Amino acid sequence: MPLPRLPRLVDAALDRLVVPGYSRLGYLARSAGWAATPPGALAGRTIAVTGASSGLGTATAIGLAGLGAAVELVVRDRGRGETARAEILVRHPGAQVTVARCDLSSLADVRRYALDARDRLLALHGLVHNAGVLPAGRTETDEGHELCLATHVLGPFLLTRELLPLLRAGSPPDRPGEPARVVFVSSGGMYTAALRTDDPEFTGGRYSGGAAYARTKRMQVVLAELLADDLAAAGVVVHSMHPGWADTPGVADSLPGFRRLTAPLLRTAAQGADTAVWLQTDREPGRCSGVFWHDRAPRPTHYLPGGEEPAAARAALWTLCVDATGSARPV
Ligand SMILES: NC(=O)c1ccc[n+]([C@@H]2O[C@H](COP(=O)([O-])OP(=O)(O)OC[C@H]3O[C@@H](n4cnc5c(N)ncnc54)[C@H](OP(=O)(O)O)[C@@H]3O)[C@@H](O)[C@H]2O)c1
Repeated sequence: MPLPRLPRLVDAALDRLVVPGYSRLGYLARSAGWAATPPGALAGRTIAVTGASSGLGTATAIGLAGLGAAVELVVRDRGRGETARAEILVRHPGAQVTVARCDLSSLADVRRYALDARDRLLALHGLVHNAGVLPAGRTETDEGHELCLATHVLGPFLLTRELLPLLRAGSPPDRPGEPARVVFVSSGGMYTAALRTDDPEFTGGRYSGGAAYARTKRMQVVLAELLADDLAAAGVVVHSMHPGWADTPGVADSLPGFRRLTAPLLRTAAQGADTAVWLQTDREPGRCSGVFWHDRAPRPTHYLPGGEEPAAARAALWTLCVDATGSARPV
């Protein structure tokens, strides 16, 4: 029997104070009031998770498989993907789990993977854009894009568009309450960055991996809103979320100092992944689109009034994605 939900004001205060809200303390306080998702809630649904070979991606896939979804692990290294698959099958014997290779930072590889997925799958009911990087220095992909932009923004944009026939098939018009759901795993770090479209490839100024990460995590939140509008006619909903602070290999590798300082407060990967899983199951996010979530509740995308990005900047982000990916396909 769940406890009563946290009063909204207390929940919002945890959020604004950052440390209590983002850490395991926020998760524990909020989750005490959550109802359990019924087993089998995702039976018959097929959901792809990118970056599923580690951390939050594997935890998301475990959570989805545990609720009965067939899960496609979209990974850049097949061996690591097979290891994640084995881990999922230990937890959920008999789960339907496939491993597919795709380097999200390569537009050519995204196109190749999407073609293969369209050949193999009948429908996709969910797509979780989880793959993420925090580079130590400025790196360009073979196609000439800065790595964070390519991995967090351009690759997911193109993948969403290329998988649209499958997502549309996963959103049957006779079941309007059950749309296919696209979810961007952004970061609370996006609050520190404005939407910057003047130098999306980060060629000017002193490069910082943290700044590139935050800028592109902000872009993911805006892109989710733009895609929500774009895909409404297809019956597909698009959301973004942030996981709080979770102890993952990515945090250990990229932020060892932060991890040392915050170790007792960090969430488990499953706790960090909880909202990404919930967004695939709950009725509420199936009935709205373009919302930013954390710990199963909508959150503001800006803390300061007037922080909303101008329409011209939002349009520039869309144009950037369409031009860079060559994907002007109408819905
Ligand atoms: N952990 C946190 O506290 C936290 C907080 C805020 C946001 N996030 C976000 O959560 C997501 C997962 O992070 P994590 O903490 O679980 O990190 P992680 O352990 O490093 O996992 C990142 C995953 O992304 C994959 N990946 C990276 N580049 C890729 C590419 N080009 N193509 C395909 N896959 C790629 C990695 O593949 P390999 O296994 O091959 O390396 C790995 O599976 C990221 O988007 C991150 O920004 C995490």
